[in-house]
Amino acid sequence: MLTDPGTTRRVRGLRQQSEKSVAISRAQCLRGVFAALVAWFSLASILGCDVQRRKSDAELGLTAQQAAGRRIYEDRCARCHEPYSTKDKKGPGLEGLFKRQYLAVSGLPANDERVLDIVSHGRKDMPGYSQVLTPPQMADLLAYLHSL
Ligand code: HEC
Repeated sequence: MLTDPGTTRRVRGLRQQSEKSVAISRAQCLRGVFAALVAWFSLASILGCDVQRRKSDAELGLTAQQAAGRRIYEDRCARCHEPYSTKDKKGPGLEGLFKRQYLAVSGLPANDERVLDIVSHGRKDMPGYSQVLTPPQMADLLAYLHSL
């Protein structure tokens, strides 16, 4: 019977309890959403300013050979060298590599011979690739480096 004072008290108690738990789970949910937003924005601000959309080979105006060289570069070189910036990673950024007369770090002349030599034999903290890349792959890579 609902009019029974004991039942009424129990029903009221149950209602209060369930309202309280709805309030708690709503608060937890909001806290979760808030945490996710904070995480997203901090990730975006860490990555966002630096990461540019990867341009297509066509947008960069690459020939087929340069595009093949780009694949090799992205596999082997990009982890240490920015292609479209002079900013340092582990190694110097290679933007405009062949546009200058001398290489920025080593001061060697910026020509095919010297660059092939560096890529083949490495320097200080850079590994050599003479055992890794075939001569045609070296040629593709060099063609791509000329596009930077
Ligand atoms: C593990 C990191 C690493 C990798 C991978 C790497 N390099 Fe390097 N590279 C360096 C460092 C460090 C230097 C600077 C060496 C020095 O102090 O002379 C350098 C120097 C160079 C230079 C001379 C720059 C200058 O201004 O003298 C060229 C060109 C170059 N790298 C091209 C490449 C190419 C092309 C590849 C891929 C086949 C590659 N590197 C892979 C770390 C790396």
